Amino acid sequence: MSAPLLSSVKLGRYTLPNRIVMAPLTRNRAAAGNVPTALNALHYEQRASAGLLITEATQISPEGLGYPNTPGIHSPEQVAGWKLVTDAVHAKGGKIFLQLWHVGRISHPDLQPDGKLPVAPSAIAPEGEAATYTGMKPFVTPRALELEEIPQIIEQYRIGAKNALEAGFDGVEIHSANGYLLDQFLQDNTNLRTDIYGGSVENRTRLLLEVTEAVVDVWGSDRVGVRISPSGTFNSMYDSNRAAIFGYAVKKLNRFNLAYLHLVAPRVEGFGSAEDQPDLGAEFFRPIYNGTIITAGGYSFETGNQAIASDSADLVAFGRLYIANPDLVERFAANAPLNKPDRNTFYGGDEKGYTDYPTWQG
Ligand code: PHB
Repeated sequence: MSAPLLSSVKLGRYTLPNRIVMAPLTRNRAAAGNVPTALNALHYEQRASAGLLITEATQISPEGLGYPNTPGIHSPEQVAGWKLVTDAVHAKGGKIFLQLWHVGRISHPDLQPDGKLPVAPSAIAPEGEAATYTGMKPFVTPRALELEEIPQIIEQYRIGAKNALEAGFDGVEIHSANGYLLDQFLQDNTNLRTDIYGGSVENRTRLLLEVTEAVVDVWGSDRVGVRISPSGTFNSMYDSNRAAIFGYAVKKLNRFNLAYLHLVAPRVEGFGSAEDQPDLGAEFFRPIYNGTIITAGGYSFETGNQAIASDSADLVAFGRLYIANPDLVERFAANAPLNKPDRNTFYGGDEKGYTDYPTWQG
């Protein structure tokens, strides 16, 4: 069988040995102060044969935090912790991008500095509950950002990007997916603003483009990616015309000549898909986007190879399979059986279910 996933590919300034990407995966195992540790370094190091590793979502500021024990990239201690990770991955010959994250309304006063309200484009609460240090609590109605505050948000992304450079990463991915802050600005059930950041598709895309500009200033365009989830309903997301907003945003991203566009595919288990409009997968964006596309969401070796063979994408990111299979590349290449991920150890805890999945001993 021909296996295009195992062929090399150019991504921005890098040539990667294969097209298999470790997807960003929240695992809630940072230490006090949201600082990455040697355990986190081991986890990524074990997976370094992926063509590209993308870190778990990492908050750019204290206000960007939405879950217990997720790592940040805004303090010197966090930068030092991430250096353990990048050194370990580089020693194994891997490449690793950091995912820059601000959760916006997907937070809770318990997680915010001084117990303040989370910030968002508009004062609209998501459905459901926030994960706090003392258990699940109903989401609160966030505070709408003032127009004058938006430059500070962009500045937080710039500082996060600079810190990632200092921590030794190979690039960064801007998290604009899954109902977090930048996605909240894009979609019209979370953005009811009447200023230049709300209303038209141009206005709702403005913050993403300004953040991208700031991050590209730091890294150069060929080491920056953007992740979007155009069909997802996770975190109570919905847009009345998703083809219009995401089609426009992706067209505008062309001008940066980024390392890649990263798409969360439609109908991913746990992330939902609104059924009243067509799914927007890689096939929809291929003719719109001029650069490299990574697609993610429930792929197998077989369907991943098909996505590349049919030229709907250039690389495929694997999440759940990477949780359980540190040597996923080698297993795919050998057609070896795969370990099954254990859901009970996805979020939080120690090395159990994190660094103790065995490699294939074929
Ligand atoms: C999560 O912690 O549930 C989570 C984080 C980032 C994502 C998606 C889910 O993009």
